[in-house]
Amino acid sequence: MDWGLKNRLSRIIKPEDERAVMLAVDHGYFLGPTEKLEVPRRTIKPLLPYADALMLTRGILRTSVDASFPIPVVLRVSGGSSIIGKDLSNEKITTSIKEAIKLNVSAVAMSIFVGSAHEHQSLVSLAKLVDEGEDHGIPVLAVTAVGKELEKRDARYLSLSCRIAAEFGAHIVKTYYCEDFESVVNSCPIPVIIAGGPKLSEKDAIDLTYNAIKSGAAGVDMGRNIWQSDHPVPMIKAVRAIVHENATAPEAYDLFKKLSAKTQTTTV
Ligand code: R5P
Repeated sequence: MDWGLKNRLSRIIKPEDERAVMLAVDHGYFLGPTEKLEVPRRTIKPLLPYADALMLTRGILRTSVDASFPIPVVLRVSGGSSIIGKDLSNEKITTSIKEAIKLNVSAVAMSIFVGSAHEHQSLVSLAKLVDEGEDHGIPVLAVTAVGKELEKRDARYLSLSCRIAAEFGAHIVKTYYCEDFESVVNSCPIPVIIAGGPKLSEKDAIDLTYNAIKSGAAGVDMGRNIWQSDHPVPMIKAVRAIVHENATAPEAYDLFKKLSAKTQTTTV
């Protein structure tokens, strides 16, 4: 692997433990002002110190994150459909590599839609993005299955999607946790990280994180289950405890409860 690419990757997946806690705040690119992400700066700022990397679009990066804050950026560079449009899978590359370089990003990210009407388009876009990324030392994160594709959230489908992403040269793949997640991880020769998906109870989101890490995930790229919590900072700290400190699910949930009780006392 080229030095620059390796260096950028190591900003995201920490070499000490080969794990990562990424904070996903790119939802607005197809969902608009998602609940609790209406004012991105307000949501993002308190969480920044606890995230290893931040995943977002260029618009939110420029308007809502201080350029002086030293956080590795994973830039979403695909889009083109909205939640009320005809077909969420109809995405293309929306941000150039030149722009990604100007923004000093550590990786670029795009979605692939295996099994959808636009499967071919998204996979060819991935191949081109990997070519461009390799040319400039920028890793590519492939995101599998959003929207309708989520209905197919089982190990067979997710293994297929993740493996195809790896075959096309992606450097990291983000997917969803499912039963028999080991088989997804074991058949994918690049690091697999999980999205959190729609908001769950904090306990369930912590269990999900623990199960994913136990099954071999390299970390999380989590959004709603962190910032839609009433206690986002305690939540990201609990997730970090699992990912980086090998905390068990009950230990992480106890930490969450302890920290949120403290937040409540200090804000009363
Ligand atoms: C989806 O394509 C986006 O990349 C989101 O960033 C991703 O789904 C992770 O966010 P969440 O944990 O809220 O599912």
